[in-house]
Amino acid sequence: MKVALSILTADWIRFADSLKEVINDVDYIHMDIMDGEFVPNISFGPAVVKSLRPVTDKPFDTHLMLLHPQNYIKQFAEAGSQYITFHVEADCDVMETINLIKSFGVKPGISIKPGTPVSAIEKYLPYLDLVLVMSVEPGFGGQKFMPSAIDKAKELKELREKNNYNYLISVDGGINDKTLPAIAEYLDLAVSGSYVCNADNKKERLEILHKM
Ligand code: DX5
Ligand code: ZN
Repeated sequence: MKVALSILTADWIRFADSLKEVINDVDYIHMDIMDGEFVPNISFGPAVVKSLRPVTDKPFDTHLMLLHPQNYIKQFAEAGSQYITFHVEADCDVMETINLIKSFGVKPGISIKPGTPVSAIEKYLPYLDLVLVMSVEPGFGGQKFMPSAIDKAKELKELREKNNYNYLISVDGGINDKTLPAIAEYLDLAVSGSYVCNADNKKERLEILHKM
């Protein structure tokens, strides 16, 4: 299982330095993009993603919590994202948005909120490189893990095996040493933010997650 570091709760003032501290211990950098409409919070935009691109060659896993993701695919692709994930609950044509992401040579992902079942995305699964199961309501870091994500990750793994699909199964929200063990066996990629970013010894926390 790989680990993506969500930088939403990182120390932004000394950001590039704190990223350098842990960069060798993470597999992906998870970029949380929020518009204040799809979620009740605003984070950062493509200019910030672009400015971080030279800091590392780790892949960027960009998570769009946007009401109209289709309007921003080009910007986040050109900013240097390897994966772009948007929400099935957004106001967009899902298949068109998947194809738009692919047209930039970027891998498409879909995310589902805690209240959305896997059945809502079943018809898109053959076209996806990543499925992101939210284990908190999107919008903020530092929330409590919702165990409903466990069965969804399991279902996604069964569907992938049965149909020979190729997507990575990822989970996002409240991941730490206590919550990850229950879901780790179904995952390819765990996203973790505050558990790592708020620790004095970030390297140690990443090692703990990697071992699961
Ligand atoms: C929530 C974001 C998450 C969040 C994870 O809307 O999508 O990526 O930053 O942070 P923690 O690990 O603190 O829940
Ligand atoms: Zn996220």
